[in-house]
Amino acid sequence: MARNDVDLLDLSLDELLTTTRTVRKRLDLTRPVPRALITECLEIAVQAPNGSNQQRWNWHVVDEPDLRAEVAEVYRSGMSGHQADPNRATRDIDYSTEEQQRIASSVAYLRDHLHKVPALLIPTVGGRMDEADIFLQASVWGSILPAVWNFMLALRARGLGSAWTTIHLHKEAEMAELLGIDAAKHTQVGLFPIAYTVGTEFGAGARQDLADLIRWNGAG
Ligand SMILES: Cc1cc2nc3c(=O)[nH]c(=O)nc-3n(C[C@H](O)[C@H](O)[C@H](O)COP(=O)(O)O)c2cc1C
Repeated sequence: MARNDVDLLDLSLDELLTTTRTVRKRLDLTRPVPRALITECLEIAVQAPNGSNQQRWNWHVVDEPDLRAEVAEVYRSGMSGHQADPNRATRDIDYSTEEQQRIASSVAYLRDHLHKVPALLIPTVGGRMDEADIFLQASVWGSILPAVWNFMLALRARGLGSAWTTIHLHKEAEMAELLGIDAAKHTQVGLFPIAYTVGTEFGAGARQDLADLIRWNGAG
């Protein structure tokens, strides 16, 4: 595996796993990210498990400013489509809480600055799940999501950050056309900004108490 002369942060594995946050306002929009570094993180990504080791993934990286701006425009248009959709998965969220207001402000910042992020990653996985049964859905998503998370962990270990985003998928066809993706055969996973982070200190995220969520030996 290629190795750049990159300093890894001094993080334990557990710290890495518990402090790899969604980064939006702390993406460094001024510092270029070398392609070799992105490639190195992708080499780590593809070590993830995937069904029968078929590796039906592609990694579309956009670092050319004009194309990046067009990609960001599709993202923004996807967000407008999301807000207009009465069946959106987020429709029941209570946006009056402090946490949701903080997330909304951060989401809006990323929307408004996405075109300035040094590189944007759109992973794809082979196959379509539009009509798929649950087994196929789980198998296909399960064959790409661990790799993407590996990528985000590899970024974090090197002082970079990203954010898992899916909002542009409301405009999946538009993004496919822009990037030359054959949308009949490949499914886009999301869009992942890539940048150095402003500072490298991140904490644990707010999560529910696990005691309320674990079910030992059945749901009863
Ligand atoms: C499936 C999925 C979709 C998401 N979509 C978006 C998105 O479109 N835009 C965005 O800014 N954040 C998006 N997020 C980021 C979440 O808001 C974030 O993970 C959550 O607030 C928890 O923050 P943390 O990752 O720092 O713990 C998404 C996260 C996931 C896992």
